[in-house]
Amino acid sequence: MKESNLDAQNSIRDHDTWGAEAFLFKEQWFGFDVIKKVRSPKKYRIKEIDIELRTSRTIIESKLLIAAKKAGIKTPNIFEIDLEDTTIIMENIAGILVKEWLKNCSDATKQNELIKLIGNYVGILHTNDIIHGDLTTSNIIKQNDDLYFIDFGLGKFSQAIEDKAVDILLIKKCFTSTHTQSDKEFFFAFQEGYMKTMNQATSIFRRAAKAEARARHLKEDQVIAHYLVS
Ligand SMILES: Nc1ncnc2c1ncn2[C@@H]1O[C@H](COP(=O)(O)OP(=O)(O)O)[C@@H](O)[C@H]1O
Ligand SMILES: [Mg+2]
Repeated sequence: MKESNLDAQNSIRDHDTWGAEAFLFKEQWFGFDVIKKVRSPKKYRIKEIDIELRTSRTIIESKLLIAAKKAGIKTPNIFEIDLEDTTIIMENIAGILVKEWLKNCSDATKQNELIKLIGNYVGILHTNDIIHGDLTTSNIIKQNDDLYFIDFGLGKFSQAIEDKAVDILLIKKCFTSTHTQSDKEFFFAFQEGYMKTMNQATSIFRRAAKAEARARHLKEDQVIAHYLVS
């Protein structure tokens, strides 16, 4: 069913997309090009839980976007937050999704360089106890030589190795499912970059390998070859 109260004209994505967490609109706001991210009510959820989820995700997304920026990682500026409407108005980053850029790029060296840089930046996020929560190549925008991280609504602040390992598993899964042809190289490049900025990298990779083995009903030795642990 279409959302009738929102202007579908500027919508980034078809409103019918099931399971999408939010609706996104391109708008003008006091002369700025902005993205309005609206978490609308989901009728399939119990009302109180729905409000709680939408509110907490709007708050955590805003907090993490700002915390990441303070840690030196580029994120869109936030202009306005409306908790009543669970809406964030943020800077529109004109660029290309890393997912698309990787698909269009045929130069493996350039691809690996970009992914190393992503690993580097995720290492910085994790050093600052910022967990992304939905780490995929669809949640990073490339604008010229800059990378912007977006979509922190499932993230959190945590020091736990376990939580950092979950981000590592998410990006690994993204490489396997979306960038199938080069998934192993990409994951190695990511880890190389990550190790440069995250001094607990080895423990985190070990934890990720353990969790992956458990989830796939494999022995740890069967997955460890994908991880840079010595
Ligand atoms: N600040 C932004 N600037 C430019 N495009 C954006 C911005 N925020 C979101 N988008 C676009 O909208 C898409 C969905 O937004 P996202 O925050 O990832 O929401 P979802 O939780 O639904 O994945 C992104 O993949 C990106 O293409
Ligand atoms: Mg997203």
